[in-house]
Amino acid sequence: MIDFLDISREKWREVPAGGDLVGRIYSTDLLKSSDEALLEHWHAMDRAASDANHRGWYQTLYNESFAGRRVIEVGSGLGFDGVYFMRTGARWIFTDIVKDNLTYVKRLVDLLGLSAQAEYLWIETPETLEGVTGTIDVVWANGSLHHAPFEIARKETQILLQRLTPGGRWIELFYPYERWLRQGKLPFSEFGKLTDGERTPWAEWYDVERIKQRLFPATTTTILDYKFGGGQYGWVDLRVDAPVRSNLSASEIEARHHTADILGLPTQTMSGQIKQEGTALAFQCTVPIWYFVGRIELKASDFASRVPIDKGIRWAVDLEVSLSSGSAGFVLTGEDSLDFISRELALDARPAPQRLTLVTDKPDPPKYLLIRNAAYGGTTSGVLNSGVLRVAA
Ligand SMILES: C[S@@+](CC[C@H](N)C(=O)[O-])C[C@H]1O[C@@H](n2cnc3c(N)ncnc32)[C@H](O)[C@@H]1O
Repeated sequence: MIDFLDISREKWREVPAGGDLVGRIYSTDLLKSSDEALLEHWHAMDRAASDANHRGWYQTLYNESFAGRRVIEVGSGLGFDGVYFMRTGARWIFTDIVKDNLTYVKRLVDLLGLSAQAEYLWIETPETLEGVTGTIDVVWANGSLHHAPFEIARKETQILLQRLTPGGRWIELFYPYERWLRQGKLPFSEFGKLTDGERTPWAEWYDVERIKQRLFPATTTTILDYKFGGGQYGWVDLRVDAPVRSNLSASEIEARHHTADILGLPTQTMSGQIKQEGTALAFQCTVPIWYFVGRIELKASDFASRVPIDKGIRWAVDLEVSLSSGSAGFVLTGEDSLDFISRELALDARPAPQRLTLVTDKPDPPKYLLIRNAAYGGTTSGVLNSGVLRVAA
């Protein structure tokens, strides 16, 4: 049986030649060059790669942050980041699913005189990552894990978390949800063709919440959640407070992966309108600002009662909202509408749907999802296209 990583290997022999505007190149071809030509070519690619809009901004941001730290890079391609950060003092483990990419990087690193700081690991299967010995301080995945189906990326992630030191960092570049929407909401087997060329077998959208779900049950704190490159790229930097949670059994972890649809739950109209439209929920706010439109009775779901609760548990609601006018605020509450138990998130009208995630600050399950007008002096209308209740990751 040919597995997914074999198909992916066939594509990723062809890697980004530095910046996102300078195309791609086969590592196998690069290996045919003399040492001198290889170095000269790599330096030219690296100059393009270091453009402020592409890698330059994070080279400046992180600069010497990894000095003395052991960083593992998932999908190191032609080694631009590893070389940059080894020069500022990091120890770097290059890993890739393509052997030739690693052979190229090893030759490069030797030629640059940085071998003492470098290690290499070929990812034949996710389980090969179990071969990493010792602890690591940072996981660096720049545009790699989103090219595998979630379950494969999750396997790699969970193995790496076993080696990550508590308080270590998880830093990842991905394609944001908005890019996926903009480019036609294609199946992931097709989306990659638009983002990385015809031969690309897979690309998934991510946002910070989906990355956290892949790391779950690890607990994390968001350090940076950022979009750049004209909205084409997302960047997430998480501090991983507890990489492994040995207090949770496999069945407890499994139970916490379940989700419940909230759009079929009873609703209460307040100073606006809420009504079911097919599987969606349309709402209309009235002026003035902060008038409650209505609320969804999350407490009518038996979901929370099916999940084993501990004091560390938090609840999340993921929403996809199309807002055609005004601005709306979304918040989770207790029994009383003024008892906010999540941060209120406000969205402004846009032509495309938007995603947001509300997370409680307490272990008690939320009783309601409240919607209110967040536009000063205007009305707001929109549609909740989807809504899901789950355990926060
Ligand atoms: C778009 S390139 C990015 C390369 C490099 N990180 C950079 O910033 O230039 C994607 C890289 O991820 C690797 N890759 C693809 N799928 C992977 C997976 N499931 N696990 C690890 N690496 C993967 C590819 O071989 C390739 O080197």
